[in-house]
Amino acid sequence: MRAIDVVDGSLTLTDLPDPVPGPGEVLVRVAAAGVNRADLLQRAGHYPPPPGASPVIGLECSGTVVALGDDVEGWQVGDEVAALLAGGGYAELVAVPAGQLLPVPAGIDLVDAAALPEAVCTVWSNLVHVAHLRPGQSLLVHGGSGGVGSMAIQLAAAAGVRVLTTAGGPERCARCEELGAEAAIDHRAEDVVERVRALTEGRGVDVILDVLGGGALGRNVAMLATGGRLVIIGTQQGRRGELDVGALLARRASVHATTLRARSLTEKAAIVADVCERAWPLIADGTVGPVVHARLPLDQAAQAHELMDSGAVFGKVLLLP
Ligand SMILES: NC(=O)c1ccc[n+]([C@@H]2O[C@H](COP(=O)([O-])OP(=O)(O)OC[C@H]3O[C@@H](n4cnc5c(N)ncnc54)[C@H](OP(=O)(O)O)[C@@H]3O)[C@@H](O)[C@H]2O)c1
Repeated sequence: MRAIDVVDGSLTLTDLPDPVPGPGEVLVRVAAAGVNRADLLQRAGHYPPPPGASPVIGLECSGTVVALGDDVEGWQVGDEVAALLAGGGYAELVAVPAGQLLPVPAGIDLVDAAALPEAVCTVWSNLVHVAHLRPGQSLLVHGGSGGVGSMAIQLAAAAGVRVLTTAGGPERCARCEELGAEAAIDHRAEDVVERVRALTEGRGVDVILDVLGGGALGRNVAMLATGGRLVIIGTQQGRRGELDVGALLARRASVHATTLRARSLTEKAAIVADVCERAWPLIADGTVGPVVHARLPLDQAAQAHELMDSGAVFGKVLLLP
């Protein structure tokens, strides 16, 4: 099969042996692969695949089932699927544990379905399972313009959550508000802590979904309401920060940090099953949708990464083999 290989940090289209689906796995012919910020880290050698995962980059795809391994139930050759991957998406074929497959939601184009699995599973697992975010509560999404952030805004707004978000520049902020954010704060021009305080009458927000990490730790805790939950999923502002435990105590607040990729097959299957049952219907009925910035051929993977690096992407970039 044709796949993207990393040679000395460069993305190169190459021929690799076809993957063989093991027990409990299906083989998917890829229609499109979603590009994630983590892919840029893996390419640079900072985010190695977990043991047993494909060394090929790519954390999500859509496509058609072309073969079944032993002991697979509930899926047939010919099924159109979206898949959460531990790796292997930047290729024509990928072997996927059956528990990480989702049907393509009604009304969604097979290619565009590749924009969904990583973002929806990340948002759902962190906001619902970790932060226990409830209707009527408030949420701050850092980077509402990103692949994860644009999905977080939509899912939370659909659940009756009051959504505030940050993005870089007025146009990106306006698009976040079109997706359902009550207010989008331009992190390049505004004091985010002050704006969040003003927008919440000094109370702060119940939950923060954070992609910034260490450098934003103090400011994030300062924006939490009593009983607030900070959920960190990215380290775009570094791995280390200073935590004012007194500020946390005063708020009876908590700090969580998670990764999806490193979870066990059982945990991923449980997340995917809950997403399928409770989030997928919101996509099938048109309340929530994939936000696709660009669709590029697989041999332009390097250009896709340059686009991500440029800061111009709103939502997701897809690669089509
Ligand atoms: N832990 C997990 O399981 C998990 C899963 C998926 C993703 N992630 C992480 O989540 C992050 C987002 O991933 P992605 O694929 O959605 O990336 P992405 O599409 O590149 O989005 C990154 C976002 O970060 C925003 N940003 C940059 N600097 C900011 C700042 N100072 N304040 C607020 N926002 C800022 C950008 O907003 P502007 O361009 O508008 O400034 C952009 O929208 C990455 O760090 C990724 O590694 C973690």
